[in-house]
Amino acid sequence: MTELTPLHGKRILLIIGGGIAAYKTLELIRRLADKGVRVRAIMTKAAHEFVTPLSVSSLTGEKVYTDLFDLTDEAEMGHIQLSRDADLLLVAPATADLMARMVAGMANDLATTALLATDKPVMVAPAMNVRMWEHKATQRNIAQLTQDGVGFIGPDDGNMACGEFGPGRLSETPDIIAALENHFSAATGPLAGRHILVTSGPTHEPIDPVRYLANRSSGKQGHAIAGSLASLGAQVTLVAGPTAQPTPQGVKIVHVETAREMLAACQTALPADGVICAAAVADWRVVQDAEQKMKKGPDGVPALALTENPDILAIISQLPKGQRPALVVGFAAETEKIIEHATAKLARKKCDWLVANDVSPASGVMGGDMNTVHVLSATGRDDWPQLSKTEVADRLARKVADYFSTSSHH
Ligand code: CTP
Repeated sequence: MTELTPLHGKRILLIIGGGIAAYKTLELIRRLADKGVRVRAIMTKAAHEFVTPLSVSSLTGEKVYTDLFDLTDEAEMGHIQLSRDADLLLVAPATADLMARMVAGMANDLATTALLATDKPVMVAPAMNVRMWEHKATQRNIAQLTQDGVGFIGPDDGNMACGEFGPGRLSETPDIIAALENHFSAATGPLAGRHILVTSGPTHEPIDPVRYLANRSSGKQGHAIAGSLASLGAQVTLVAGPTAQPTPQGVKIVHVETAREMLAACQTALPADGVICAAAVADWRVVQDAEQKMKKGPDGVPALALTENPDILAIISQLPKGQRPALVVGFAAETEKIIEHATAKLARKKCDWLVANDVSPASGVMGGDMNTVHVLSATGRDDWPQLSKTEVADRLARKVADYFSTSSHH
């Protein structure tokens, strides 16, 4: 019996890389077929060392492709068509070599040519030795692929064929299937067709070429919100100040440094149905940052003249009707009198909801994983229990989805 899951009827182009885990793709193809997925496979030359094209083709029920040459005898199926005639491209196992070639935009075999020619989403399930995974070159490649919008599934930690322990094992088949289901359910999720803009992280305000004003925001909460909104199907633009957070899957990221750059990036990203301002924007910047590094000298300690930064949340909240997103949500970082200050902030900035949190050092919120928030709006206040930042993000994303699902906000 074929279950009707989000995968039913989908077409996946599976690109099998040359790793010892390649044999596991046989089981994957079988389970995908159980879910009603039509799988076509491309194998790299190296993959032939680990699994035979015959076993792959007997499971997919289709010819297996390896060479660009394989396609020339079928007039109707070029490599462009092969790469686009699918709903998604999945690379499994994605070897260090294959990922490096993807980053470089190479097209020196059919696998990389298809990856370069496609206009469809690409997900990779890496598998390699732990040292190779941790190598700076691979980590650079992962960062670049993430930036390019490639989705990652795993790898898992575990014992590897080579006897070492650590990240590098191909994700288990059920986990790969769950990631694919998540991907496809987002397309029909409650926020499908909605564009939501999210700001996250701190801003850095230059003092001179080597110094800046900043704050302790990690970007964890804002990035988690962007990810949760995307998993409900929203098209998300994440405008992020400098943070170490990975870009959440399925999110378009715009990197900025200063408050003024963040405002400009938000203005470029508009129009949007909703905006969530989770960034800890620096309130002030130095009036004129020095062109050269400021030096100690006989004139004593420099005085830093500060001026106020534009308030992105207030500006967006007060856009004229027609330009203003239907739902504008702000955050209030407070260290005392949380509700009182947040209530005043909601009225002052004119956003629709204000998520107030206690960021006093004792709360451990700044940089930590937990958050206790109160959601204020014109109609009242919702006190949420202490939750992880991911749970706060999921709950907020669901609340946003509920808001848009009520008929008056179409
Ligand atoms: N915010 C913004 N642009 C700014 C300052 C703040 O968009 N220049 C947004 C933040 O993203 C957040 C909200 O405004 O959603 C509140 O930020 P917070 O720092 O808590 O408030 P402030 O406006 O700085 O007020 P105060 O300094 O009085 O606490």
